[in-house]
Amino acid sequence: MAKKIQRVGILTAGGDSPGLNAAIRGFGKAAIGHYGMELIGFRDGIRGMAENRTIPIDSRFLSGILTVGGTILGTSRDKPHKMNVNGKTVDMTDTILANCEKNKLDCVVFIGGGGTAKNANRLAKAGLNVIHLPKTIDNDIAHTDTSFGFSTALGIATDAIDRLHSTAHSHHRIIVVEIMGHKAGWLALGAGIAGGADIILIPEIAYSIDSIAASIRKRAEAGHSFSVVAIAEGARDTQDTADLEAAEALLSAADSPEAKSAAKMHKQSLELAHRGNAFKLAEELEAATGLESRVTVLGYVQRGGTPNAEDRMLGTLLGGAGADLVAKKKYGITVAAQGQAAVPVPLKDVAGTLKTVPLDHPWITAARHVGTGMGD
Ligand code: F6P
Repeated sequence: MAKKIQRVGILTAGGDSPGLNAAIRGFGKAAIGHYGMELIGFRDGIRGMAENRTIPIDSRFLSGILTVGGTILGTSRDKPHKMNVNGKTVDMTDTILANCEKNKLDCVVFIGGGGTAKNANRLAKAGLNVIHLPKTIDNDIAHTDTSFGFSTALGIATDAIDRLHSTAHSHHRIIVVEIMGHKAGWLALGAGIAGGADIILIPEIAYSIDSIAASIRKRAEAGHSFSVVAIAEGARDTQDTADLEAAEALLSAADSPEAKSAAKMHKQSLELAHRGNAFKLAEELEAATGLESRVTVLGYVQRGGTPNAEDRMLGTLLGGAGADLVAKKKYGITVAAQGQAAVPVPLKDVAGTLKTVPLDHPWITAARHVGTGMGD
């Protein structure tokens, strides 16, 4: 009997990041060229699965994309079980499964971050064969040392800090630079160390204005009349951190759907209010030190453009390893980067687990060793 040709779907979901196309190509070339599989892409992440918007992928489609930023498949932040359809929230899980069936897919490869891992795991529980490849500039995916996108973003943020140094220095100013990373401080910490920021603030360490102002005054006394403060978008001062922790405790103690929904709304409103923390910090530092302060929000620049060599390599490595797993019919797996290797990790252990910066991490020690203030 002739061997059945495996048919595979692939998609990119969540925020885009450099290296997505390298991973599509890495998986696709191995799947098509090496294993003789058939491959289709879903457009715009999980929304494309629900709407059955597909594109056939052959080796020509994969040519010339290694160096291209963003994702040629498009992306979205949709969730299968809570999708906005004509203004209503609808569970599209069954439709998604039916579309995979219609396309005769043996498996779907989800390229995405923590949210995508959760969604892939939900669909795996509903019966879909899935593989997850970890991408995100936030580097917050559990069990993987690095996710593709992080290295390029780290380079961009470091370059920005370098540039901000010369203008901060010339104007004798404090420049507060807000760096992405969602709830984790990897990007701000890494770029802060590499760019020689004077203060680095991350979500894992609650900061106090007094401590930061004291560090800046000390620098001024030593003749450095400027400071660069790298703040992760999720960093909070001690009061905001306490408020958020209280809101989280309230949410986990909520014992009815009404109480849960009220606690969730309260937590979300706090998170929304904390979004402008970089601006609040700059104002407070100006008042506390008398030094003029400015804010730069790096924003989407951090995840746009050409992936660097490391992210191209990582995407290629993890993509190829993903194809090996599909060939062996091993599903429900995140292909993690551990050391130099691509290591299969159960997706259920990755989904819903955030990798934040441990307080005893060598990067924090390194920052403190060179005299960088961590705001505590
Ligand atoms: O997860 C990647 C990321 O860029 C985070 O650093 C940031 O918090 C978030 O996405 C921004 O999300 P959106 O693209 O939905 O604005």
